Parts: sequence; C-alpha cells; structure tokens
Amino acid sequence: MRIFFVFHFGNFLIWADFEKPCMKETKTFFILVLLILGVSCSSEKKGPPRMTAKQTKKDAKPKSTHPGKVLYMQFCMACHMENGEGVPSLYPPLTQTEYVLGDKKRLIETVLHGMEGPIEVKGEKYNNIMAKLDYLRDEQIADILTYVRSNFGNNAEAVTVSDVRTVRAAGAK
Ligand code: HEC
Repeated sequence: MRIFFVFHFGNFLIWADFEKPCMKETKTFFILVLLILGVSCSSEKKGPPRMTAKQTKKDAKPKSTHPGKVLYMQFCMACHMENGEGVPSLYPPLTQTEYVLGDKKRLIETVLHGMEGPIEVKGEKYNNIMAKLDYLRDEQIADILTYVRSNFGNNAEAVTVSDVRTVRAAGAK
C-alpha cells in the first residue's frame, strides 16, 4: 500500500510519500502538519490585516482633522467661506493672498486686532470691517493660521504659538 499526501498552505507545499505506512509515521506526519498550520495561522494574525484596494485607499487619508480646521470653521468660515474663497467685494479671499502668504506678523495682527478700511486683495477692493478675535488663545490662532497657510492653495511656513505670543506682547504695550 502506498499513501501520498500533498498539502498546500500559502507559500508552503508539503508532501509526504509513505511506502509502508505505519501508525507511528502517520501520526508524526499529522502532528507536523498541525504544527505548520498553527504557525501559519498565528503569523497571519500578527501581520497587517488584509485589505482590499478600496479600503487601502480610504485608510491612506489622514484620519485626524487639523485642529486649525475645526477652529477655522468656527471663527473664520462665516465670512471667508469654507474654502477661503471669500465673498466678492465683501469678504476678501484667503487663497494665496499677500496677507496670508506674506509677513506672519501682519497676518497675526489681522486676527488679534481685526482690520478695517480700504484694502485691495488680488486686484479687488474691499472696505469693510473684520472684528478682532483677540479672545482666541495663542495656540488657537497659531493652529488657524497654520491651517490657512497650508490649505486653500497656500503653501507657507507654519505659524507657531511663540510667533503669536510675540505679536500679542508687542501689541499690548
Ligand atoms: C465677520 C466677518 C469676518 C470674520 C469672522 C473673519 N474675517 Fe477676516 N476679514 C473680514 C473682512 C471684512 C476683511 C477685510 C477688512 C477690510 O476691508 O479692511 C478681512 C480680512 C482678512 C485678512 C486680510 C485680507 C486677505 O483676505 O488676505 C485675513 C488674512 C483674514 N481676514 C483672516 C481671517 C481669519 C484667519 C479669520 C478667523 C480667525 C477671520 N479672518 C475672520 C471679515 C471677517
């Protein structure tokens, strides 16, 4: 009698050929198979979970929202709009404007002290009032301005808490 086994586990191909099978050999063989099965199952559990292409794409997006985004929605969005495009002749845009990308001090001052009077942004004139938002904490202003400077087509250096602290201290003489 001849017994021939071929097993295929993932990357392993296991085969055994018994000319004269005796109980002892067969037993050892099955124990071996169970061991390999156990090892391959437990190592599968440890590895990264299998994902479909769709899931991988979804998971690749950052899960956490920028803290500045939440604050922007709360304190700036009403006038400057969700995507920073503003409202023509009423609220200027925050998309690659001189104020947003330029001098950080002037940008921080805009939030701390507000702004009023005639200005020109991207070739368009505005003469309106932005109330000061000095009740926001240094950290909140830094988060908002960092968010603004890295979104809406902007790509400028972050605004730090100490940047805001310095400007605030200079303003409160
Ligand atoms: C109540 C409406 C309102 C809110 C809220 C508001 N702004 Fe403004 N903002 C304005 C107006 C109006 C101007 C233009 C003022 C003028 O005409 O002199 C302006 C001007 C600006 C400017 C300079 C011009 C430009 O567009 O580059 C920046 C930068 C700015 N705002 C940022 C912010 C940020 C950041 C927040 C939230 C922390 C905010 N604003 C909240 C109304 C607002």
